[in-house]
Amino acid sequence: MARVRTVFACTECGAQQPKWMGRCPECGAWSSLVEERVGGGVSADPLAATGAAPTGAKLLRLGEVDAAGLPRLETGIPELDRVLGGGLVPGSVVLLAGEPGVGKSTLALQLAAGLAPAPVLYVSGEESPGQIRLRADRLPALPERLAVLAETHVEALVTPWRELGPALVVVDSVQTLRSDRVESAPGSVAQVRECAALLAAAAKRQGAALVLVGHVTKEGTIAGPRVLEHLVDVVLQLEGDRSHAFRLLRAQKNRFGSTQEVGVFSMSGTGLETVANPSELFLAERRSGAPGSCIAPLVEGTRTLLVEIQALVAPAGYGTARRTSQGVDDGRLALLLAVLDRRAGVDLLSRDVYANAVGGVRVSEPGADLAVALAIASSRLDLPVPADVAACGEIGLGGEIRRVARTDLRAREAVRLGFRRILLPEGAADLGDVPGAIPIPVGDVAAAVRWLRESTPVHSRENGR
Ligand code: TYD
Ligand code: MG
Repeated sequence: MARVRTVFACTECGAQQPKWMGRCPECGAWSSLVEERVGGGVSADPLAATGAAPTGAKLLRLGEVDAAGLPRLETGIPELDRVLGGGLVPGSVVLLAGEPGVGKSTLALQLAAGLAPAPVLYVSGEESPGQIRLRADRLPALPERLAVLAETHVEALVTPWRELGPALVVVDSVQTLRSDRVESAPGSVAQVRECAALLAAAAKRQGAALVLVGHVTKEGTIAGPRVLEHLVDVVLQLEGDRSHAFRLLRAQKNRFGSTQEVGVFSMSGTGLETVANPSELFLAERRSGAPGSCIAPLVEGTRTLLVEIQALVAPAGYGTARRTSQGVDDGRLALLLAVLDRRAGVDLLSRDVYANAVGGVRVSEPGADLAVALAIASSRLDLPVPADVAACGEIGLGGEIRRVARTDLRAREAVRLGFRRILLPEGAADLGDVPGAIPIPVGDVAAAVRWLRESTPVHSRENGR
């Protein structure tokens, strides 16, 4: 029997070292080395008994491969199916990641319920069957035939898996699992990776879809960093602010579809509900006419979302000025403040600046730059952005406003909700095919701020609308 050897593998780059080090010499990551055993100590795949033995792979010509035949399991949640690229693919592994409390277990249970009457195995290492039942009672329809199992031991899944022959296996969460093959504690990188790999292999063998629920850490990484992302076919990220009802579901990686799609849900008393017109919800509480607010039309996949960007500029107390943002990237905010200060003469020195995307949305595209900058300038100058105005454009370091993709789509959504005047980069000012849109081309930030200073006060203009 081969001798058992211990190596230390980097969870970032995979490089192996004979002894533990604080920093990986290959990729420079700190505290990324974890202990792993190699050699004779490893037993046979414990989940091999779940299905047929693996057969030798057959040599195929690419032309003979039937891609259209990729079957899909529809989840009964159209919004989720769209993000997945048409439904779950049998044999595929989906990682559903998100912060604690965002609604991962709820979505997983709804997904399991939606697949009925196909057999589904719902494994929970976090909740007892009683707790799962309580949660299920809140959903619109109780999935009575759903097989639930409170278990954290991977090897113990063999028998129920074989007996049920499920079309879908949900594991909530992958961080609670442990396998006898690894000695480290549940939740450690080595355990998470080993358990996920075993389950993924079993799912592939069986042709069952596998959904792994995974917590993300405060820094936004899926614990242990990145190890699961390589292993799975699809990474879905459920985002949202717990104090708001909105939840965005994004595909960060998708081997079977686009990563551009986003699903919009709202957390209600009866689970996650699909939101058909997110813009209307995002803007429902908007007070027009107040300084420090601007509408940004964002494009997420095939969806357009109108999001209100709010800013508040206030004199700083003693010491350094505070810059706080929610839903707007900190680095992006710092850049926009510097550009406003240097290129448009908006004095922001020793001012506290707060910037928010309303509704718990996270604005990730630079197309919102112009709206963020206008909201800040509007608050600083105490001049409201007129209530029928939306703005889109990326801002460069020179203060220039650059084009963003799908301006027509953004304009159409803006007009649909009554935002007829749209500040745009000069190069994208042709909105001929968007009826009702009034483009306002601006070349740089200075021009946008000038426009704001000259625009008619909202009260005299908007009462007639
Ligand atoms: P949960 O799915 O447990 O989050 P996660 O698994 O990501 O940690 O649910 C999070 C919150 O959602 C919880 O605080 C309760 C709330 N919730 C509702 O508002 N409505 C519902 O119908 C359900 C099931 C949960
Ligand atoms: Mg949970």
